Amino acid sequence: MDRKIDGLMKQMTLEEKIGQLNLPGAGDITTGEATNSDIASKIKAGEVGGLFNIKTAEKILEVQKIAVEQSRLKIPLIFGMDVIHGYQTVFPIPLGLSCSWDMPLIEQSARIAAIEASADGICWTFSPMVDISRDPRWGRMAEGSGEDPYLGSEIAKAMVKGYQGDSLTKNNTIMACVKHFALYGAVEAGRDYNTTDMSRIRMYNEYFPPYKAAVDAGAGSVMTSFNEVDGIPASGNKWLMTDVLRKQWGFKGFVVTDFTAINEMTAHGMGDLQTVSALALKAGVDMDMVGEGFVKTLKKSLEEGKVTQEEIDRACRLVLEAKYKLGLFDEPYRYCDTQRAKTEIFTPEHRKIARETAAQSFVLLKNEKQVLPLPKKGTIALIGPLAANRENMDGTWSVAGDFKKSVSLLDGIRNVAGDKVKVIYAKGANVVADSALEARVSIFGKPTYRDNRPADVMIREAVNAARKADVVVAALGEAAEMSGESSSMSHIELPENQRELLKALLKTGKPVVMVLFNGRPMAIKWEQEHVPTILDAWFGGTEAGNAIADVLFGDVNPSGKLTATFPQNMGQVPIFYNHKNTGRPLPKGKWFTKFRSNYLDVSNAPLYPFGFGLSYTTFDYGKLKLSSASLTGNETLTVSVPVTNSGNREGKEVVQLYIRDMVGSVTRPVKELKGFQKIDLKAGETKTVTFHITPDDLKFYNYDLNYDWEPGDFEIMVGGNSRDVQTSTVNWKK
Ligand code: GLC
Repeated sequence: MDRKIDGLMKQMTLEEKIGQLNLPGAGDITTGEATNSDIASKIKAGEVGGLFNIKTAEKILEVQKIAVEQSRLKIPLIFGMDVIHGYQTVFPIPLGLSCSWDMPLIEQSARIAAIEASADGICWTFSPMVDISRDPRWGRMAEGSGEDPYLGSEIAKAMVKGYQGDSLTKNNTIMACVKHFALYGAVEAGRDYNTTDMSRIRMYNEYFPPYKAAVDAGAGSVMTSFNEVDGIPASGNKWLMTDVLRKQWGFKGFVVTDFTAINEMTAHGMGDLQTVSALALKAGVDMDMVGEGFVKTLKKSLEEGKVTQEEIDRACRLVLEAKYKLGLFDEPYRYCDTQRAKTEIFTPEHRKIARETAAQSFVLLKNEKQVLPLPKKGTIALIGPLAANRENMDGTWSVAGDFKKSVSLLDGIRNVAGDKVKVIYAKGANVVADSALEARVSIFGKPTYRDNRPADVMIREAVNAARKADVVVAALGEAAEMSGESSSMSHIELPENQRELLKALLKTGKPVVMVLFNGRPMAIKWEQEHVPTILDAWFGGTEAGNAIADVLFGDVNPSGKLTATFPQNMGQVPIFYNHKNTGRPLPKGKWFTKFRSNYLDVSNAPLYPFGFGLSYTTFDYGKLKLSSASLTGNETLTVSVPVTNSGNREGKEVVQLYIRDMVGSVTRPVKELKGFQKIDLKAGETKTVTFHITPDDLKFYNYDLNYDWEPGDFEIMVGGNSRDVQTSTVNWKK
């Protein structure tokens, strides 16, 4: 690789080297016009390193030919896209996917996404998004894997492996781009693009781990985040992009900015375009997404001594290395096989897997009186703004989805229950009462089909349907684009008008099942207190409706577990399970004690804790056993617990292991997830689940940011969620 790239760089002019650092949007390229658009002339002039948001092998072949046959040095382009949770076969939004706690399943979803995207000519995805977040006001929680660094790291690894496979040179593997580096999920007030500010100890222990896990898994690229870190925007932050990413973590790939993130440093107050472009290059950024700051100013900055030739050469080399690793120098048209799309995209097999995966992502939050599973007989009143909507099932960031081909819940119930069940559908309410707000989220090809009849007319129609039914299924929650980028919400309760509908449905006395569609944790306390059955379905993707029906009728037993805490109300936010104890913790079992850390008006407890999820069966945990109560140095502690399926049907259970470091040189969380196993138990079956803990599992970044463990007492906890655990204590000497 070095020989090839050294030889190439020796021939390259300064303009051509800077051209490799330029990632314009595909803009006006469409088949046939690619030859004479201004992008085409830039490509010919060697001013473009890659493109994104262009697809199909035909179009990409046409554009790649311009680079490979009409530019001076024939350097191929890299083609990227936001393939976030599937490509045309859309999988559950990542927050939903994470609730499966099933790493092979998550890896497989990325593998299928890579197969489909690469069949369409794409060789680079701006995924996985691994930003830890504890603030459901932030719409991009939908794109991440929740609040936990350990689980987030496992998922980051699985996604990178799924995308990149065992060799990037294969034409069905694509380069991952872990984002958004770094801390983007900690935006103040949950408002997108806002400031983030935290201690380095919190960065290293709570927010960095998933980025590092993706880098350790070999992610070929990293994307900078919009926010500042320690007062310097990430895209210009040398400590972040060079000291941490490259020197401490040994990252060998290339760094691309987020969309015009260089230009935005002017708004951040860091200087004019030339200043911020030089700042980015010197910080360790290699590619400029859309902003054209590099192509417009680096030559001048070099002449004025504001950047060095070495810095330009470094960036250019890293971009060329990525192309080499993808095999683009050997075979520039490797991803342009126009036959593949016909047989590898949106296939029945992929959709079948998407359906199975979606069913594993749903979380059963409540099921009093066993309303679920429903019998495949009688009459169902299917009510709600999300009940018959296909396009919203894919959720946010599903750019390559064919939304009209997604399966709505109405379709799904009909598909699964066939003519055994009579379904009466009524919309009952709009997504929100405010038509202006609804217009802001009825976008990107995902219309909400607002019904302009008066609310009481819609509710009356729904109540009439309910009266004729044996059970009501209420499909409520958010529209797909109420979460995702630039979709922060200051309220996270169920919209008022939907709750009015729900109250009317409950008043009929019929059993009500609420199917919640959401891209973030929601403060559904009223619903938890008044609705007998709640299934969180997130946005399940192409097969959402079929998968939800599979669970509603019991063909699949739900096993999802929350990966982000649900608050009782927005006032508790940020609320997360791995919090510190503080100097004034609440006494156990108390919810208010004066002069302790709590609220006058609400308990500290979440509505649903991290790791929580029910099943149609029940699981009993036997006695927790430790192989020893005291250990020294590099020994291994074996933790085991028998788990019994005490119900009358097969089910999956995610057994979780948490550890608390009782005393440290810095304060330590009251518990941290350190292991989990998803097991499958037949009715009556018992399995002993075993975890092996070594000092590596006890390590953390201390005040001096050294990664090490400290001797002392540790609580070992095991359970089916982060709240209901059994605890034992060990003492571990160095
Ligand atoms: C967006 C997002 C980023 C995405 C990029 C390209 O602004 O922040 O996640 O990959 O632009 O679409």
